[in-house]
Amino acid sequence: MKWVYIEEIAKHVGEDVEIRGWLFNKRSSGKIHFLIVRDGTGFIQAVVLKNEVSDEVFDLYDELSQESSIIVRGNVREDKRAPGGFELTVKDIKLIHKAIDYPITKKEHGVGFLLPRRHLWLRSRKQWALMRIRAEVERAIIDFFDSHGFLRVDAPILTPSACEGTTTLFETDYFGEPAYLSQSGQLYMEAAAMAFGKVYCFGPSFRAEKSKTRRHLMEFWQAEPEVAWATLDDIMELAEDLLVYIVERVLENRRNELEILERDISKLENIKKPFPRITYTEAVERVNKAGLKMEWGEDFGGDEETVLAQQFDKPVMVHRYPAKVKAFYMKRDPENPELALCVDVLAPEGYGEIIGGSEREDDYDRLLERMKEENMPIEDYEWYLDLRKYGSVPHSGFGIGLERTIRWIAGIHHIRETIPFPRLLEKIYP
Ligand code: 4AD
Ligand code: MG
Repeated sequence: MKWVYIEEIAKHVGEDVEIRGWLFNKRSSGKIHFLIVRDGTGFIQAVVLKNEVSDEVFDLYDELSQESSIIVRGNVREDKRAPGGFELTVKDIKLIHKAIDYPITKKEHGVGFLLPRRHLWLRSRKQWALMRIRAEVERAIIDFFDSHGFLRVDAPILTPSACEGTTTLFETDYFGEPAYLSQSGQLYMEAAAMAFGKVYCFGPSFRAEKSKTRRHLMEFWQAEPEVAWATLDDIMELAEDLLVYIVERVLENRRNELEILERDISKLENIKKPFPRITYTEAVERVNKAGLKMEWGEDFGGDEETVLAQQFDKPVMVHRYPAKVKAFYMKRDPENPELALCVDVLAPEGYGEIIGGSEREDDYDRLLERMKEENMPIEDYEWYLDLRKYGSVPHSGFGIGLERTIRWIAGIHHIRETIPFPRLLEKIYP
C-alpha cells in the first residue's frame, strides 16, 4: 500500500493508502471509532467501523493514547462534512510506539506550563498553523528579493562591533578577544551593496533586550535589503511592495492556517498600495491628540506605537525621526539637519513596528563626526569608513523583523509563539 502525506490526500480519492503519523485525538460511539491522525503535513479523520476491520484492530482503540505513533491504512473518501474535506475508512492500524501520559492534554494550559514543553507544544494545531505561516513568509521574502534583482549575501553572526548600540550586545569570547553576536547584518550589507548593487541578507539577529514585552525576542530573524543609489523614498516603496507581496502569498497559500488561527482575513485582504505616510512630527501630534502625553524629540514607546498603529487599517510609514533618537549611520535630512532620513513601518491593528530603515550617511567626515559623538571605537569601524573613501554613493536599506511580521499577519498576541524555539528574557530552555 502506498505511503502518502495528508497534504496530498486529495490526489488519492478512492485509493487505499497508508498514513504514517501520530494520534492527535479520538472519540468513539461504541460501534464506530473516530481517530484524528496527524502526520506533520496535515490532519485527517480516520473512521474505524466494527465490521470493516479485525477484532484486534477494532480493540486497539483503547491502547491508542494521545501522541502514540501509528501507521494507518485505509481507503480515501471525499466527505464535505469531514474536517479538511477527506476521510479515511480504516482497514488496518499498527501501533508503533505508545505514548504514555502525554502532558499537553486537550484542556487549556497556561503559557507557563507550555513554554518549557515547547518541543511538544509544536505538535498542537495552532502551532502547526503558525509554523507553516512562518515558512510561507520566509519563502515569500526570499522569492520577492530574488525576483527583484537582489543578490543574497550572507552576513556574519560573530562580529567585532555593534550596529544598533552597545546596550543590547551579547558578548562572547573570540580567542581571548571580545566578540558579539550580530544585532543586524546592515553594516556588512552596505559593503555588499557597493560590491553588488542590490543585496539582502536573511538570518538571525541577537539582542539582549532587558525588558519583557510582547514584541521582543533575544534571538529574532531579519531580512535586510540594502540598495546602492537608493533614497529614502525608494526604500519606502520597496518596503510597501514587499509587505503587499508577503500578505498576498500567505492569503494564497496559507488560508486554511489563518482560519485555524481565527484570523480576520478581511483585514489582510485590505493590505494594498498605497500605505499612508506620515512624518514623525505628525505622528507625535496624533499620539498627543489620542490622549498620551509625549514631547517632540522623544522616541515612541510600545504604547505610543500601538495607539498610532490603531489609527490605520494599513501599515503606516512614519518617516523623519529626530536624529538623536536614531542610529549613528542614518543620514540627516538636508532640509532640517535635526531629522534623520529614516522610516519605521508600523503594522495596523496596534501591532507596531515591523520594519526599520534609512538612508545612510555617505559622507566620510560627517559619519566620523557622528561616531565620535557616540564615543564609538573608531578603529573597529575602519573598514566601514573605507566604504566612504572609495567611491561613496547614496544608499539606503531596511530591516524587516520576521517574527513581528508573522505576529501581525497571523494575529498573534505574543511574539514568542511565532518562532519555533523562542529565546526569552533569562529563559533558554528547551
Ligand atoms: O529597527 P531595527 O533595530 O533596525 C536595524 O537593525 C537596522 N540595522 C536594519 C537595517 O536597516 N538593515 O530592527 C529592524 C527590525 C525591527 O523593525 C523589528 O521588526 C525587528 O527588526 N526587531 C525585533 N524583532 C523581535 N525582537 C527584537 N528584539 C527585535 N528588535 C528588532
Ligand atoms: Mg527600529
